[in-house]
Amino acid sequence: MLTQSKIMKLLLLFLLSVVVVVKSQAAVDYDDEEEVATTAAPVDGDGVDARGHRPLNKKREPYPTLRPAPLPPSSGFRYRARPTKPPAAGRKREQVAFPDHGGCKHMSEELGVLCPTGCELRTALLKQERTVKPTVQDLTDKVQKLEQSTSTIYSYTHLLDERLAKKQKQVLDNQNVISQYNKEVEEHYTFIKDNLDNNIPTNLRLLRSVVDSLQKKIQELQKTVTSQLQDCRTPCTVSCNIPVVSGKECEDIIRKGGETSEMYLVQPDPFFKPYRVYCDMKTDNGGWLLIQNRQDGSVNFGRPWDSYKKGFGNVASSGGKNYCDTPGEYWLGNDKISQLTKMGPTELLIELEDWNGDKVKAHYGGFSIQGEANKYQLSVSNYRGTAGNALLEGASQLYGENRTMTIHNSMFFSTFDRDNDGWPNPDPKKQCSKEDGGGWWYNRCHSANPNGRYYWGGHYTSEMAKHGTDDGMVWMNWKGSWHSLKKASMKIRPIIQE
Ligand SMILES: *[C@@H]1O[C@H](CO)[C@@H](O)[C@H](O)[C@H]1NC(C)=O
Repeated sequence: MLTQSKIMKLLLLFLLSVVVVVKSQAAVDYDDEEEVATTAAPVDGDGVDARGHRPLNKKREPYPTLRPAPLPPSSGFRYRARPTKPPAAGRKREQVAFPDHGGCKHMSEELGVLCPTGCELRTALLKQERTVKPTVQDLTDKVQKLEQSTSTIYSYTHLLDERLAKKQKQVLDNQNVISQYNKEVEEHYTFIKDNLDNNIPTNLRLLRSVVDSLQKKIQELQKTVTSQLQDCRTPCTVSCNIPVVSGKECEDIIRKGGETSEMYLVQPDPFFKPYRVYCDMKTDNGGWLLIQNRQDGSVNFGRPWDSYKKGFGNVASSGGKNYCDTPGEYWLGNDKISQLTKMGPTELLIELEDWNGDKVKAHYGGFSIQGEANKYQLSVSNYRGTAGNALLEGASQLYGENRTMTIHNSMFFSTFDRDNDGWPNPDPKKQCSKEDGGGWWYNRCHSANPNGRYYWGGHYTSEMAKHGTDDGMVWMNWKGSWHSLKKASMKIRPIIQE
């Protein structure tokens, strides 16, 4: 039994360490620029819970426990005693034989056999009586003596018999004890064997299947990591030509004849240096300037204020041609976006794609963001589209104040190191950007989170999220909180009145 519990302990220890390893591997993620105190309050990760808002649900999922199977009752097997030896038979006393005498005989052998007459017999008898008498006496004595010694022998024999019987009884008792002992041993043996045959294999099977499923998960993770690494192997070096045609922004460029979707150089304000940007010259008559793009998770969006201010990521790369026709993942930068939207009326096109390849759009006829002094405050208007009006109306799954606190319009920009969200401050534990993975116009906290964490495959749970919150690339009004999108992009275009 000792060894069984030892084995169980070891296996449980092993399992625990596997879980710990898996967990600690998963902990390396988006905001490792800063050590954030893990205030994770895991909520039920069943994938249907609408999140985004913040009345914290501290309900914990019960942790599954491995209950060892109860021991079986000892079996009905009974010990069969071995047959005992029959007691040794008692020794038989020998009969004392007396010699018989008499008969017809001559005194002298030579004369032959002769039966004597009465007279002769009497004379002979009388003659012999004297000698016979003492002989008989002597014989009688001897017989008596013999009888005495015989009785001694007899009593001795009797004593021996008694002792033998005693010993035999002892032997029998010993045998009974041994039988009893054997029976117990056999019962123990049966019990141990049953345990070995049934319990331990069952528990082992159970543990093995747990280990197997964990291994399968690890393999899947490894496969995903490998495929992602493959995608990111070649760094996005801009080795392609930048077209000669440039302009204030993409709409300006398409008017000047730049009709392919690719990377261009733009200069909205002659006071600032020109910069590279990807222009979509196809969608809805073209002229769109890409300010945000997510498509493969190759760029980390969990970045500090300064990164969001200046922009980050890869603008474009060459897809085989000698020009940069393929957009990369990037954030143009809040300063640039702000400046572009201040040049005049601007529209915003948000395009989303899920992991089934389904696509939706959210179009805002008005879009502007303030400068850094005003914390890049967001303003959108005139929604139309198929994605759902998250920015203006909040999450359609929520009601009342819960929905109101997910509206993004008029919110300030927040990053994990600059908390401007709609959650009561200053509480370091109540920071949307820390919990939801990216820089964004968080309220308390979001209905849309296009700068959130990239989850390969789309579906994720609160257990997978670093803080138990819906930190994925989420557009709640379309796919809810627990489906992280495959692609998301934000494009702007000046509204030209004709
Ligand atoms: C807001 O959400 C909380 C929990 O998520 C819920 O208990 C409450 O009823 C909601 N309020 C409204 C008005 O839906």
